[in-house]
Amino acid sequence: MRQFPGLIWILWLGVLDIVDCPVICNKAEYRIGDECCPMCSPGNHVYKHCTEFTSTSCVPCIGSTYLDKPNGLPGCIPCRHCDPGFGLMVKHPCTPSSDTVCEPLEGFYCTDPTKDGCKAAQRHSSCEPGQYIRQKGSPSTDTVCTNCTGDTYSDGSFTSCQPHTQCDQLNLQQIKPGTRQSDSECGQETSSPVAVIVCVVVAIALIAAVGIGLYLKKKKKRKLLGSDTEGHSLRNEKRWKPLEHFSE
Ligand SMILES: *[C@@H]1O[C@H](CO)[C@@H](O)[C@H](O)[C@H]1NC(C)=O
Repeated sequence: MRQFPGLIWILWLGVLDIVDCPVICNKAEYRIGDECCPMCSPGNHVYKHCTEFTSTSCVPCIGSTYLDKPNGLPGCIPCRHCDPGFGLMVKHPCTPSSDTVCEPLEGFYCTDPTKDGCKAAQRHSSCEPGQYIRQKGSPSTDTVCTNCTGDTYSDGSFTSCQPHTQCDQLNLQQIKPGTRQSDSECGQETSSPVAVIVCVVVAIALIAAVGIGLYLKKKKKRKLLGSDTEGHSLRNEKRWKPLEHFSE
């Protein structure tokens, strides 16, 4: 029974020894060897460690580097690059005490968000023909597409599926039925190339017939008035008469 407290005491001394061995510095200090040095403030890094007689010597982060915490580091950390190749652009530029914050480019959404920024983004997907855009993509969400149903269609760019045109309601004939991707096509009676050619031929024939008809009618009239040559001479006489008057 007497042995137990003695053993505990020895163990306790051992624990104290382990804890005692490394130098414990307070929160605003860092350990270098057996010394505790004051940390550099954010935006600065250590230039010279403190000594028995001098405090830590700190210098600011320069170039595109930063340190956002009190530190005992010999250098600053390079700032993040917002790579357009990863769909990113700068939201907040780098400062000596804060890293660059990136955000998705227009038309992209974040796939790897951070506390107040984004590490990677992807282009909004586009809806397929036969689908409508149920929800446009945002910086944080992708486009939401939904299939068209029933008697409707969308080419993939619509924000709702449009009903197919009902040709019979327009008193037109349906040339092509509507699909989920496209509207129905309406038209007058079948206008195939053959039909168009037939129409043109008929039209030419009609014009020709009318022309021939008129020509024949004229010829008949002339025959009733007399011979062609008499007609001409009559007209010539009439035309020259005023001139004769003028010369007298
Ligand atoms: C949408 O339509 C496509 C093609 O018709 C089909 O493969 C897919 O399963 C449909 N999706 C849903 C959610 O109904």
